[in-house]
Amino acid sequence: MSQHSAPPTPEGGPAVGHAAASRDVVSHRGLADVVAASTAISDIDGRAGLLFYRGYDIHDLSGAVSFEECAHLLHRGDLPDREQLTNYRAELAEGRRLGATTEAVLTTGVATQPPMEALRTLVSALSADDPDTGSNAPDANARKAARLVAQMPTLVAVYHARRTGSTVPDVDPGLDIAGNFLLQITGRRPDPAAVAAFDECLVLHADHTMNASTFAARVCAATLSDMHSAVTAAMGALKGPLHGGANEQVMTMLADIDERVDDESARQRIVDEHVRAKLDTDQKIMGFGHRVYRTEDPRATHLRRMSRRLAQLTGEPKWYEMSAHLEQTVFQVKALRPNVDFYAASVYHYLGIPTDLFTPVFAISRMSGWTAHVIEQHADNRLIRPDSEYIGQPPRRVKPLSER
Ligand code: CMC
Repeated sequence: MSQHSAPPTPEGGPAVGHAAASRDVVSHRGLADVVAASTAISDIDGRAGLLFYRGYDIHDLSGAVSFEECAHLLHRGDLPDREQLTNYRAELAEGRRLGATTEAVLTTGVATQPPMEALRTLVSALSADDPDTGSNAPDANARKAARLVAQMPTLVAVYHARRTGSTVPDVDPGLDIAGNFLLQITGRRPDPAAVAAFDECLVLHADHTMNASTFAARVCAATLSDMHSAVTAAMGALKGPLHGGANEQVMTMLADIDERVDDESARQRIVDEHVRAKLDTDQKIMGFGHRVYRTEDPRATHLRRMSRRLAQLTGEPKWYEMSAHLEQTVFQVKALRPNVDFYAASVYHYLGIPTDLFTPVFAISRMSGWTAHVIEQHADNRLIRPDSEYIGQPPRRVKPLSER
């Protein structure tokens, strides 16, 4: 666990199951505080609210490096120099093309599925056209990781075009991943401020230690399965509303609240009522709370600032203002703080990204972290196979069918 953190204290109290107890095993519900792998990729200090990518503080990286530099850092161990960045960008540009199998899958009706279901299938299909399929060797993994990072935004843009019956604009070689994605999704040449904000979002979401989807990827990779299988597993885990699906739920909540506002002076009261009604009935407010952070999620600090800035730039302050008021009320009522997904919702909305593509956008960024973790897992592998606490029937005899 973190070299920056105080020693962990089990959350919710460890339980000892009867069968597990006989093997001297402690059960941690949800694997809270269990160290499942060693990693040199990222680290969190949940008490201080700090996040590091390969030793760099996210507060220093955010706004200072591009997503391409960040992906290089995660994949190849350090920030690139100029020449390395030029070569890595060229590798990404070359790798973004989709192969014939993926194109064929896109014609099967997959584009009528909801985004994360379609993209889970499409990410899996990418392996069919990958020249390094079948090899888990370090050089093959490095090439596959770059291709997957480059292909993910293309997949989302092509999926979106197919379902809307539009054509994907050609990439602009003068733009990086962030700019080209906004260009291809909105169909307009993006404003430089929007590109900078989105690039920063991609950096902020790139990796986050042993989150559920990364863990899923590592469990899969640890069987010595391949990188495409591992990231397909990760896509499935990211889809859930307790993980990557939360950003979409946040925007849906803000839009629902907004629909109920018929008089501007009532907006804050309606936000308050929504929050209290949810919390009074033990329902979760999406975009709040975190397994690891005990203070502000450092990514939320940047996303809040970005949301405020985009509110000014777009002249549409209501999404930021509602979010800020909701944050205040949730803190007053339940002392919960926003996580990465809360302000990401209004930021993506301001950037013109359709709400149901918010989780795919998370995947575009997190693909860099997942693939880095697969590289790391394969480089020093041991099967990940935890135990379970048995809570079923005690041992019993099988009766013949006539006696049951
Ligand atoms: N709204 C209301 N109550 C909450 C929330 C929330 N968002 N989050 C936690 N709580 C309460 C929870 O009800 C429980 O209360 P009590 O002890 O009274 O039963 C307590 O806080 C602990 O919650 P938990 O769900 O047991 O905590 P966890 O560490 O297992 O879960 C979490 C962490 C992120 C799943 C949870 O906070 C949550 O469900 N948040 C909403 C979904 C969300 O925003 N997910 C994105 C997570 S961050 C990005 C990512 O990793 O994808």
